[in-house]
Amino acid sequence: MKIETRLAQAGLCTDQATGAISTPIYQTTTFRHPAVGVSTGYDYSRTGNPTRQVLEATVADLEQGDRGFAFASGMAAITAVLMMFSSGDHLLVSDDLYGGTYRVLERNFRQFGLSVDYVDTSDLTAVAGKIRLGETKAILVETPTNPLMKITDLAAIAALAKQHGILTIVDNTFMTPYLQRPLELGADIVLHSGSKYLGGHNDVISGLVVTAAKELSERIGFIANSTGAILGPQDSWLMLRGIKTLALRLEKQQQNAQFIAEWLTRQRIVTKVHYPGLPDHPNHAVQARQSSGFGAMLSFRVADPDWVAKIINRVKIITYAESLGGVETLITYPIKQTHGDIPAEVREQIGVTADLIRLSVGIEDVNDLIADLEQAMAGGEL
Ligand SMILES: Cc1ncc(COP(=O)(O)O)c(C=O)c1O
Repeated sequence: MKIETRLAQAGLCTDQATGAISTPIYQTTTFRHPAVGVSTGYDYSRTGNPTRQVLEATVADLEQGDRGFAFASGMAAITAVLMMFSSGDHLLVSDDLYGGTYRVLERNFRQFGLSVDYVDTSDLTAVAGKIRLGETKAILVETPTNPLMKITDLAAIAALAKQHGILTIVDNTFMTPYLQRPLELGADIVLHSGSKYLGGHNDVISGLVVTAAKELSERIGFIANSTGAILGPQDSWLMLRGIKTLALRLEKQQQNAQFIAEWLTRQRIVTKVHYPGLPDHPNHAVQARQSSGFGAMLSFRVADPDWVAKIINRVKIITYAESLGGVETLITYPIKQTHGDIPAEVREQIGVTADLIRLSVGIEDVNDLIADLEQAMAGGEL
């Protein structure tokens, strides 16, 4: 079946007793055992819950992996993956990435002896140069990156990693399995903030991990159960409900994003638009090869950083809020919000500067969105 069909039918008719076509919410902590030594297959909901398992099987299928795991947030998913490593291990991580991932690495995992180097993963030679033989255990890639939309060639990174016995871990939040499936390109683990496109409605916080092979599944499964940051049944159900419309939402969102990106390139006060769907994006061709679309995230720079607050304060239809991937268009100021915990000098170095605005484009009428941006930019007379 094509992915649109698998999405629409996520969790369809799992209830043998009633035939309910929406996955039942098993709001229970524990399960009665029929007799000593006999189990229904369920013991305790941290270990396994039928509603969560439908979601987990769904994402494993969408990402074409061995097993899926649902966590209480994207950060819980990332934390679970990082718990696979030990003191002394070295990780290579995309230098332009979600600020929370940087924060958990620097403020939580460094104290346990993990060492991290940040590198531009779109530059294969730079990545190869940072590998420490015997010490580097994984490359963690965001592509497109948040917020500069840099693209990493996933097949090339995964091949390089394999040569050195290193795991490739991909944060696929921006693309979703509808547009990009890193495991098919050689990655070992895919993770998501499910709070974004997969949920899709800005109403649930969740995280997902999908593993490529059994050995990794067992390790992540053990961590999920032993540390316990699993997703509850109500939120698992909301995720399943959201996932059903992913294809429709993303098609419309990326169509709107392409239109807005092109419009922004023509605005006098805009100095740069970062969107992989623009033909002059440095890795446009790589993105076109490894994904079936360019997504609906973009960022842009204005000539004077003082204009940023004016634009953000003036938008009426677009909402100033810190998230992405939902049906509503959101505008974000990375240095104040998503990337606020990255030290200013590091932000400057990678280009997350005061002139940069990020847009998560929704499913609204694109002309309404353009009109809103136009009035916020006041025809360039700020
Ligand atoms: C790319 C990316 N990964 C991970 C996360 C963390 O996810 P959550 O907010 O669900 O914990 C985010 C959150 O914004 C993100 O943008």
